Amino acid sequence: MQPPAPIPATQRAIIQGPAGQPTIANDVPTPVLRPGTVLIKTIAVSLNPSDNKMGAAFPCPGAVIGMDFLGRIVDIKPAEGVESPSSDLRLDDMVCGVVHGSNPGDPTTGSFAEYVRAQTDLVLRVPENFPLEQAVALGTPLLTSCVALWSSLAITALPESPLAKPVPVLVYGGSTTCGTMAIQLLKILGYDPVATCSSRNFDMVKSYGASAVFDYTATDLGHAIKTHTGGRLRHALDCIADQASTTCCYASLGRPGGRYAYLEASPKEWKTREAVKADFALAYEAFGHEVKLDGEYGRPASPEKHETAAKIFRAFQKLLDEGKVKGHPTEVVGHGFESILEGLRRLKSGSVSGKRLVVWIE
Ligand SMILES: NC(=O)c1ccc[n+]([C@@H]2O[C@H](COP(=O)([O-])OP(=O)(O)OC[C@H]3O[C@@H](n4cnc5c(N)ncnc54)[C@H](OP(=O)(O)O)[C@@H]3O)[C@@H](O)[C@H]2O)c1
Repeated sequence: MQPPAPIPATQRAIIQGPAGQPTIANDVPTPVLRPGTVLIKTIAVSLNPSDNKMGAAFPCPGAVIGMDFLGRIVDIKPAEGVESPSSDLRLDDMVCGVVHGSNPGDPTTGSFAEYVRAQTDLVLRVPENFPLEQAVALGTPLLTSCVALWSSLAITALPESPLAKPVPVLVYGGSTTCGTMAIQLLKILGYDPVATCSSRNFDMVKSYGASAVFDYTATDLGHAIKTHTGGRLRHALDCIADQASTTCCYASLGRPGGRYAYLEASPKEWKTREAVKADFALAYEAFGHEVKLDGEYGRPASPEKHETAAKIFRAFQKLLDEGKVKGHPTEVVGHGFESILEGLRRLKSGSVSGKRLVVWIE
């Protein structure tokens, strides 16, 4: 076996330029390990809408962009004093996961780089038969589901202790990467996921476990979903969070109200019913550190949300190993950092439907 290549002091990465725009840089310091983290030599990354949005809304020149990664572990630093829950990770393991890219609180943490430092308990080992280009798109949607389902929607069921009797949950935007992840988790948790998306993605969304799918361009959609669920809907996850989706979710929830989790900041005026408890679910909170952003995005450190996420990642690892979950459809844009820039431009244009863009780095 070849001895491992030495880790360089600096690396190639995509950072935010002076106005927050994605820019290739060749001399970015390679992240230094901290207790409870692993260093990963990046093999592929997948592109999230936030990789464009964060630099535009909260420019932080120099911050490394990117959330999702796939790669091999090249160094491990165990957590101080506690046995890391994922301490069975070994050097050279093929792993995927999520880091807090475009992070003003720590500009070194993005995934669009040759080396990525990740929190050990938010890393998944990729089973041998799992498609690598799908593994690279698991991290962010899983982390988002951890916050949206177990905090915002206050779900208590776990994969190992599902509901005895299914109850409906609405996933608005079922064809998004977050949507397909939430749908399959909800199904495993014993819920009955009902979704909305474009009619061209109906079959895809059903294949993740949605029992019924509604075209979000239909008129009086909220009423149709309320009728379909017999007024029993108490939980709605909104992966779109525009005015139409908010209106639909509020109209779908039954008369006693319920919980509404949404993935983008949106005006208070859209949330029209006091009986509905609305919560802006922010995946960044699950890293456990303070989210140093303005307005609704800023959050205090939440060790509890991190602990929940670590627990769900462990449960998800088991599901992955047992072949019980699948990844979102993907399209490989190309190879190398230039292809990331190309993919980000495509994502920004709004032309990507029902798939996650992936770029090979190595
Ligand atoms: N709060 C958080 O922590 C967090 C975390 C992750 C993502 N997000 C946000 O959540 C949203 C989804 O992210 P993602 O990565 O899962 O998305 P994605 O995979 O890129 O979603 C693409 C899909 O969005 C659907 N879509 C786009 N505009 C729509 C509209 N106006 N109405 C209904 N559907 C629409 C399209 O569905 P069809 O092709 O079926 O039309 C498209 O297939 C983004 O806004 C993202 O920024 C937030």
